[in-house]
Amino acid sequence: METLLICYASRDGQAAKIAGRIAARRIGGVVQCCDLSRRQPAAAELAGAGAVVVIAAVRYGRHLPEAEHFLQREAAMLKRKPLAIASVNLSARKPGRHGAEGNAYLRRWLARHALQPALATAFAGRLDYPRYRWFDRLMIRLIMAMSGGPTDPAAVVEYTDWAAVDAFADALGRLGERAGDAQRPRM
Ligand SMILES: Cc1cc2nc3c(=O)[nH]c(=O)nc-3n(C[C@H](O)[C@H](O)[C@H](O)COP(=O)(O)O)c2cc1C
Repeated sequence: METLLICYASRDGQAAKIAGRIAARRIGGVVQCCDLSRRQPAAAELAGAGAVVVIAAVRYGRHLPEAEHFLQREAAMLKRKPLAIASVNLSARKPGRHGAEGNAYLRRWLARHALQPALATAFAGRLDYPRYRWFDRLMIRLIMAMSGGPTDPAAVVEYTDWAAVDAFADALGRLGERAGDAQRPRM
């Protein structure tokens, strides 16, 4: 079975948790995880992957810089691979904000890197006011007030739809299988 390389960028742990859930779901398959804040994948690791998934959290309107760096650095290689992209943000907690049409972060992300991945989605992340520094807490409360979300400074809400994450993981499995079929010589 093809190796799935999961590259993720996370600050508060939710994108990492999503990456872990996808890795665990891939029963019997080979999975390599790469925390982009610690290291960028080696060229051989990337070349050997049957499919690549990039998962990155949004902070103040931008995906985390290590994910941006990875996509810029490996643009050429990633265009030759089955690729899947997942943006993690709080905008996606609302209905209709999972696809590129409804989620501006995801749409702009794909456009910025001229990506045409086989799968692209936005997952709702986690709101955790007690964890945030005072300035971030203030800013997120303002954003939540404007978008109809919780503003209680004690609020902790995990919005992630785990069934959607599992469905994404299953679709990834099928992607890897198709890529493997295409690479196998026909008899
Ligand atoms: C400082 C900060 C800024 C954020 N900015 C945005 C934002 O601009 N838009 C949004 O939808 N979510 C925003 N979020 C929500 C995060 O995307 C969400 O909490 C996500 O789960 C973070 O992923 P992580 O836990 O992997 O870091 C922000 C969160 C923090 C703490």
